[in-house]
Amino acid sequence: MKGIILAGGTGARLYPLTKMMNKHLLPVGRFPMICYGIDRLRKAGIKDILLIIGKASAGLYLNFLGSGVEWGVNISYKIQENAGGTAQALNLAQGYISPQEKFVVLLGDNLFQDDLTPYVVAFRDQPPGSARVLLKRVNDPKRFGVPVFDPNNPDLIIRIQEKPKKPPANYCVTGIYMYDSFVFEAIDQIQPSARGELEITDVNNIYAELGRLQFDVLRGWWTDAGTFDSLQEASRKLRGLHP
Ligand code: G1P
Repeated sequence: MKGIILAGGTGARLYPLTKMMNKHLLPVGRFPMICYGIDRLRKAGIKDILLIIGKASAGLYLNFLGSGVEWGVNISYKIQENAGGTAQALNLAQGYISPQEKFVVLLGDNLFQDDLTPYVVAFRDQPPGSARVLLKRVNDPKRFGVPVFDPNNPDLIIRIQEKPKKPPANYCVTGIYMYDSFVFEAIDQIQPSARGELEITDVNNIYAELGRLQFDVLRGWWTDAGTFDSLQEASRKLRGLHP
């Protein structure tokens, strides 16, 4: 299985730090943020990794990670010219994925403790054209995508509400997703959101409508690191860790 880390975007919530360098290169504990996603994929046996990055910081990524050999992985790169949303970034992976091939996608600012192996194993058994997302119980679901569960089938999500004012559950849909090449057909079907971006939640809702969106709940800690508070929290948690 391959891995894709979405590591572009403007990082507007971390401005002015992100004026100098891309969010996913900012320090978390002793390492740049991007290293932790690479580590979680490698731990799950995923060594072929595509990084989708912006133009401005591409040189920094190459200098630091190179081919990935030092990190025990094979890294390829794709440049996202303009920040057009998570689904637009993912669409750039089309040439990297073979027909029907399964893969894991991480939003590069999602940092977490769990070993992905059991979730990847469960996903391998899913039928073609289905997807799996990982959830986490949170106190502030309004900040995230929030799942609505199928009352008739507790293993399925029937809809994800993006940043709802009245969250239907105390769960967040984390930025850890599993797809096969059907995802590119799903991306073709979505339209830009109110903020003018192609959203990963709209892609996941296509799977949900088809009854093909399964999930697991993360057991260990999870945080995004896209705001100053969450970046500090992530640094505190990962200070002693050496990916
Ligand atoms: C994105 C997704 C959201 C998800 C979150 C996890 O939000 O759109 O559904 O819960 O990542 O980090 P963003 O951070 O782009 O606002």
